[in-house]
Amino acid sequence: MKFSRITGTGGYLPERILTNHDLEEMVDTTDEWIQERTGIKQRHIAAEGETTADLGTKAARLAMQMAGKTAEDIDLIIVATTTPAKVFPSTACLVQQQLDIHGCPAFDVQAVCTGFVYALATANSFIRSGMAKTALVIGAETLSRIVDWTDRTTCVLFADGAGAVVLEESDEPGILSTHLHADGRYEELLHVPNSQPSDTGDAQKIEAHICMKGNEVFKMAVNTLGRIADETLAANNFKKEDIDWLVPHQANTRIITATARKLKLPMDKVVVTVDTHGNTSAASVPLALDTAVRDGRIKKGDSIILEAFGGGFTWGSALLKF
Ligand code: ACO
Repeated sequence: MKFSRITGTGGYLPERILTNHDLEEMVDTTDEWIQERTGIKQRHIAAEGETTADLGTKAARLAMQMAGKTAEDIDLIIVATTTPAKVFPSTACLVQQQLDIHGCPAFDVQAVCTGFVYALATANSFIRSGMAKTALVIGAETLSRIVDWTDRTTCVLFADGAGAVVLEESDEPGILSTHLHADGRYEELLHVPNSQPSDTGDAQKIEAHICMKGNEVFKMAVNTLGRIADETLAANNFKKEDIDWLVPHQANTRIITATARKLKLPMDKVVVTVDTHGNTSAASVPLALDTAVRDGRIKKGDSIILEAFGGGFTWGSALLKF
């Protein structure tokens, strides 16, 4: 059986930056509170008319460029998103159209902040089973469109952006294992109520916003991510010291630090972008990966754990050789 390996990464952040000081003008909050509780200093917000597909396409182009691939080479497109450009067609089909790729399978995966890990695991299975050779795996979000900008408990957290990888068939192992989980029992702790016409009875009056019991989500995230780190190492007979990099979902520096501690990794072996990107949900892991690849920290042959936790609840991880 063949393996799959990441051969290119790309990221895109919208131009407009919203700082904590900007938020102080909008809701009852302070830069100090936001930084202390979350580590976030600023985030990027999509322009009017700029869609999730637009962001995903820009990230995908950069990943293809790094991998040296053209439109003809791509035979699978998976987009992880919670904020699709349209109910349908899928954002993956819209990205496919923008990239001038025709005929290959293209579909979305919805697992909120764990979406990219789910999408990567799916693409890995396609490649390992011979159903695809060169996949585009994208995480893209415009969460600013489902945030209640009057709710200080959520509006300081979420942001827009996209990250992408090219995953290729390879004789050498790249993705070593993937681990996916979900438990729908926790729906009410983190969800978007009223997001379908059937919820409100009136398609014109949809006002869908993220609702989160932050403190309870926080505790679950810390415990669950600690467990999945152990599961991932055990599945590969890896010791903690075999890991070169942790590329975690970027929700909160306190959650990231707790997972790093569990893995006994110093923080200079952890990629942190939440300070400048905010929580971009499915885009956060590929954006963080791209950041550390492009600034030269992550090098070929490094062993990396990707992990994420999000609404559903969903959680997952991947261990890979870059
Ligand atoms: N500015 C000032 N004060 C605030 C703000 C704000 N922006 N937001 C909340 N507060 C207040 C609260 O009202 C509360 O006040 P009270 O004590 O008078 O009631 C106080 O701060 C503490 O609130 P907590 O919610 O207990 O604060 P906490 O330390 O838990 O931090 C946070 C909140 C940052 C949301 C944290 O709980 C967290 O990061 N949770 C996890 C988020 C996450 O990982 N989500 C999963 C992925 S996201 C996805 O899947 C879409």
